[in-house]
Amino acid sequence: THARITIDRDFTIADVPRRLFGSFVEHMGRCVYTGIFEPGHPQADERGFRKDVLALVREMGPTVVRYPGGNFVSGYRWEDGIGPAADRPVRIDGAWHTIETNAFGLHEFVDWAREADVEVMEAVNLGTRGVEAARALVEYANHPGGTHWSDLRRRNGAADPFDIKLWCLGNELDGPWQIGHKTAHEYGRLAQEAAKAMKLVDDSIELVAVGSSGRSMPTFGSWEHTVLTHAYDEVDYISMHAYYQEHDGDAESFLAEAVEMDAFIDGVVATIDAVRAAGKHTKQVDISFDEWNVWYQSGLDTDDQPHRVSKTWREHPRLIEDTYSVTDAVVVGTFLNSLLRHGDRVKIANQAQLVNVIAPIRSEEGGSAWRQTSFWPFERMARLARGRILQTAVSASQITTKRYGDVDAVDAAATWDEESGRVVVFVANRSLVDASDLTVDLHGFSDLRLLKAETLTIPEGGDRHTANLEAAPDAVHMVPLTAAEVVDGAVRATLPALSWSVIELG
Ligand code: AHR
Repeated sequence: THARITIDRDFTIADVPRRLFGSFVEHMGRCVYTGIFEPGHPQADERGFRKDVLALVREMGPTVVRYPGGNFVSGYRWEDGIGPAADRPVRIDGAWHTIETNAFGLHEFVDWAREADVEVMEAVNLGTRGVEAARALVEYANHPGGTHWSDLRRRNGAADPFDIKLWCLGNELDGPWQIGHKTAHEYGRLAQEAAKAMKLVDDSIELVAVGSSGRSMPTFGSWEHTVLTHAYDEVDYISMHAYYQEHDGDAESFLAEAVEMDAFIDGVVATIDAVRAAGKHTKQVDISFDEWNVWYQSGLDTDDQPHRVSKTWREHPRLIEDTYSVTDAVVVGTFLNSLLRHGDRVKIANQAQLVNVIAPIRSEEGGSAWRQTSFWPFERMARLARGRILQTAVSASQITTKRYGDVDAVDAAATWDEESGRVVVFVANRSLVDASDLTVDLHGFSDLRLLKAETLTIPEGGDRHTANLEAAPDAVHMVPLTAAEVVDGAVRATLPALSWSVIELG
């Protein structure tokens, strides 16, 4: 098959929002306990942070990490996680049918985030709690001192405020499974009042209202419209969540899911702007795509599925520890491309989650930590997408899919960093069988040379299901994309079937 991509230095979308490369740590399964935090592990530091996991997190390069949930936050009392660890209450977490010891809480997360060099994105509980607990948490975290909550933070060992800028006004409250599920009107008013009260404590914070838990939610569209009609002036972002998986061996449709992600984003942008127009607002609300990933929610009946685990009450059970294949990694690469293409409106995005729970990094209790296949596209894009996002005009052979009809065989995004002169093209070949002859026309860029070209694809001796397992942690990684070259102002390369590639020019 063939593909031609045209980029032009005069046709840009936006500055790369660095918060697009976010991740998520929930008190769920083994993301916190035996993931980022495992006192007694041979690699743990004096605070119990796993240094092997931290090294992988730093390598992967998330810029911002959402915490502490997720469904968990809708039943959480943040005060349970502060103060001397020995005095913290052990509680039941209804969301995941788990015993929560509270050994890890806000201070630990802030300390960990500093070590990992990531911004904290904190979610408040608007499921079982409301305005009072939310504004108290902002005071605790961000007020310098001399008040009840800020002095308590100081007594708990943090003299300086945490200065958390990004806050989520609850989680997935449109979902019937959520503790404290609400109608759009109930939530819209609560979000508006919580936002107002939180900004009265610290007017420098940015707030994310809860959007739909997925495009297939029956209230999708009307939920965003109603919530924003109430809270437009008080919030800065509305959230999106989306999880995708392969159904019934239909890999072609799965590889085209970024088409669905593009349409989902466009729908939310349209809804935001309709509310903005009708309300005669001047401010622009943007999107925080604060949960996205591949997640095998159906079809798997392994021991880490919530319906099996929920028969007992346990601390940090194994939950949704999906193992990702080459195919999954290519799909993750196309999701990153989609998010980048929408960087004019999607300003924050968080891959869910960071460690063990549908995660790019895995770890075993007392054992090793390793990179899943999906680690690689995230790491490459987080490191290399700098400067301006370029428009990508794609003309490509088509692939016929059951769910999305004919789609482009290649999926692309690109950035240009004027300062360093670097142009980076991220491009997936969705075809399971055919390589693609790629041409990238570089308009307005003189004298670009090829610096590096790499690809993630099926390794020698493997197939599209090949994954990185504890016993073979490096089976899938980025390899050189051979025979890529720049000829007469255009890149020429051959993209292997089922691949996600990075072409660096400068
Ligand atoms: O990331 C796993 C779960 O997915 C989160 O807790 C919830 O917000 C979503 O449904």
